[in-house]
Amino acid sequence: MADICYPFEPFKIKTIERVPITTRDEREKILRDAKGNIFRVPARGITIDLLTDSGTGAMSDAQWGALLQGDESYAGSKSWELLNSTAQEVFGMPYILPAHRGRGAGHLLFTVMLDRDKKPVIPGNGHFDTTSGHIEWAGGIGVDCIGEWADDPDSDYPFKGDMSPEKLREVISEYGVERIPLVLITITANTAAGQPVSLGGMKKIREVCDEYGIPLFFDAARFAENAYFIKTREKGMADKSVAEIVRMQFDLVDGAVMSSKKDGLVNIGGLVVCRDRELYRKLATMGTLFEGFPTYGGQAGRDIAALAVGLREVLDEEYLRWRVGQTRYLGERLKDNGVPIIWPPGGHAVYINIGKALDLPTSVYPGIAFQNAVYLEGGVRVCEIGIVLAGRDPETGEDRKPRYDLVRLAIPRRVYTQTHMDYVVNTVTKVYENREELKGVRFTYEPPVLRHFTAEYEEVNLVGKR
Ligand code: F0G
Repeated sequence: MADICYPFEPFKIKTIERVPITTRDEREKILRDAKGNIFRVPARGITIDLLTDSGTGAMSDAQWGALLQGDESYAGSKSWELLNSTAQEVFGMPYILPAHRGRGAGHLLFTVMLDRDKKPVIPGNGHFDTTSGHIEWAGGIGVDCIGEWADDPDSDYPFKGDMSPEKLREVISEYGVERIPLVLITITANTAAGQPVSLGGMKKIREVCDEYGIPLFFDAARFAENAYFIKTREKGMADKSVAEIVRMQFDLVDGAVMSSKKDGLVNIGGLVVCRDRELYRKLATMGTLFEGFPTYGGQAGRDIAALAVGLREVLDEEYLRWRVGQTRYLGERLKDNGVPIIWPPGGHAVYINIGKALDLPTSVYPGIAFQNAVYLEGGVRVCEIGIVLAGRDPETGEDRKPRYDLVRLAIPRRVYTQTHMDYVVNTVTKVYENREELKGVRFTYEPPVLRHFTAEYEEVNLVGKR
């Protein structure tokens, strides 16, 4: 094991929730009843849940206190005033519009900014799936301009989430600037294994955008984790506070959409923030149609109150040191045990490189086989982010081939301890060591879209080698 002292949890536990502990026989029945789909397994059958870091975090005593003070006035509540002033200060943006969650915020931005008659194209560093979905819903397509540094799963490159300015230029000249209403940088890059984006990298993209007069936006769900990586990895940034770096990030963009369920440290909510009054007015009109009055946007006053506290708590550097340290701990322990992961570990999750770990053909969906085996082994829920998630190409009907076939271990914020992580390491390592026994799966039911959520599978009798 690497000789590193990992930061301890900078909090103590005040309320607890018993975790379910099951036997292997029980898990086999539960997974059979769920038709082999981990999304269909009820939470009461799961011991450690690493399905997602979204909306699964624990709130602080200060947030629970704020919840009680939530003001449920329909318009202009006290909670809204607090959120508005906090978000303005944290992001340095004058206009703040709440939405019910990240994809609600994305829906507003893309329906307002995309003109479907122009066949819009949105370059980015790997859009998240619901973000791509909303771009397509608004008549556009997403184009991935992440740099070639993201292609090496083992290098130490510190900012694999950076977009390539050269690729962006190529996309602009290929499609024409009039088809590009905005460029979107996701911080951290969830689809690129949670890798961070550097401030230097953002500046280069800003320069290209300025040259062509294209607005630049963030998909900012994990803005604080990204800022912490900048502080600890980017040259000359160590002396800046995370709060300052967050402002430096947002100073480079025209606005952002955000799921508050991650670095907002709350269980539900989203935001759009921007600088331009005209844009805000259009967004607020759409927001009123789809989300609710612009001072609550689909959230209860109490949710907004808790978010106002969460946006400040997430800037606590002791918290971020521990948070990023916990993910690193999980990643390093797995790597020490020989499990191939995308290196270095990201902020919110560790991604197992299934293409490298298993010798099964992709036609039998090895990521699903692995995730199910991890569940059966220890009741740990992890999630395929690979071939099944990528879906089929509508033209050829073939499975799409994502850059990597991955299984994600996403860590909820402030929920699990280091001992829980040790248990996860042992469980995953055991499955990896016995990988020759893994069988693939095939669909017994395959829905036409978003198949990973509701598909049904059975094991195929294909053991071991290709
Ligand atoms: N953008 C990014 C980068 C995300 O990671 C997510 C959600 C969203 C937008 C959508 O936000 O869920 O509030 O509507 N990611 C979750 C995940 C679901 O598991 O990575 P939402």
